[in-house]
Amino acid sequence: MIIVTGATGLLGRRIVERLLTRVPASHLGVSVRDPKKARDLADQGVRVRQGDFTDPGGLAHAFEGATQVLVVSVDAMGEPAVRQHRAAIDGAVAAGARRVLYTSHMGAGASSRFQACRDHAATEDALRACGVPFTSLRNGFYASSAVRFLDPVLATGGEIALPADGPVSWTAHDDLAEAAAAILADEGRFEGPTPPLTATEALTLGDVAELATRVAGRAVTRTAASDEEFRAGLVGHGVPAETAAQLLGVFAASRAGEFAAVDPALTALLGRPPVSMETVLREHLP
Ligand SMILES: NC(=O)c1ccc[n+]([C@@H]2O[C@H](COP(=O)([O-])OP(=O)(O)OC[C@H]3O[C@@H](n4cnc5c(N)ncnc54)[C@H](OP(=O)(O)O)[C@@H]3O)[C@@H](O)[C@H]2O)c1
Repeated sequence: MIIVTGATGLLGRRIVERLLTRVPASHLGVSVRDPKKARDLADQGVRVRQGDFTDPGGLAHAFEGATQVLVVSVDAMGEPAVRQHRAAIDGAVAAGARRVLYTSHMGAGASSRFQACRDHAATEDALRACGVPFTSLRNGFYASSAVRFLDPVLATGGEIALPADGPVSWTAHDDLAEAAAAILADEGRFEGPTPPLTATEALTLGDVAELATRVAGRAVTRTAASDEEFRAGLVGHGVPAETAAQLLGVFAASRAGEFAAVDPALTALLGRPPVSMETVLREHLP
């Protein structure tokens, strides 16, 4: 049985939906924090069990009978995230899974300027040490994140002040979910970390603002803020200092080119070009 965690999240849910087109529902299970949110999956014949990485003891039941477990990374950063990922990996191995998969990130590395990429590197170390074959899906930076950075002015037009950035190969959730499903259904297609799973072009937020201007027909202008101005603005709006620092890490990492890679692997997995940033914007804009 293939087990997918995080199946009530944005990516995990899409992965299960794509898997259902490739694998019988009776071969699929999900491990979710709140089974009520996955009732529709149970109705389709998917096994739904409760599992929370902060409660490692409960994962034996959630992962029972697993052949492969896809651990969807949690929406946290730093030591708590890595601890939870390790618990999930250990739980998968203890349940007898013959392969553990994990949603990592392009640019995962111990010296990344972005905390999440350092966490993914630490989790990949745990995968290397876990004793069973693993696949680490090095997902491209979510296109929805670019939308979120510009969101305050997308609907109305206007100016948005952000720190200096670099090109990023923004990639759609739907494409990453399709790729994960293809890799799960073709067990062993990738050993270890995949190439970066990215769309076909790398765009700065200035490029995305220009695209949005064209798509929406209203001027969306990205202006420059220093890192310190941006940090002060966030903290002034109640964002915790640690979160502000993590967000600034995204800009520092993109300036250093950590998210600039464009790789054909995702296109090959999909058998078609990945969704473009223009399409993502068209779907998002009113
Ligand atoms: N590639 C990128 O650019 C990028 C950007 C941002 C984040 N990410 C990573 O990709 C992951 C998936 O993205 P997404 O859009 O699907 O995020 P999401 O919608 O926030 O989903 C996160 C999932 O993690 C689950 N989760 C959180 N804590 C957990 C725990 N202790 N035990 C078990 N499950 C737990 C959540 O469960 P509930 O449904 O119960 O809340 C949720 O299903 C994120 O969590 C993050 O690690 C990647």
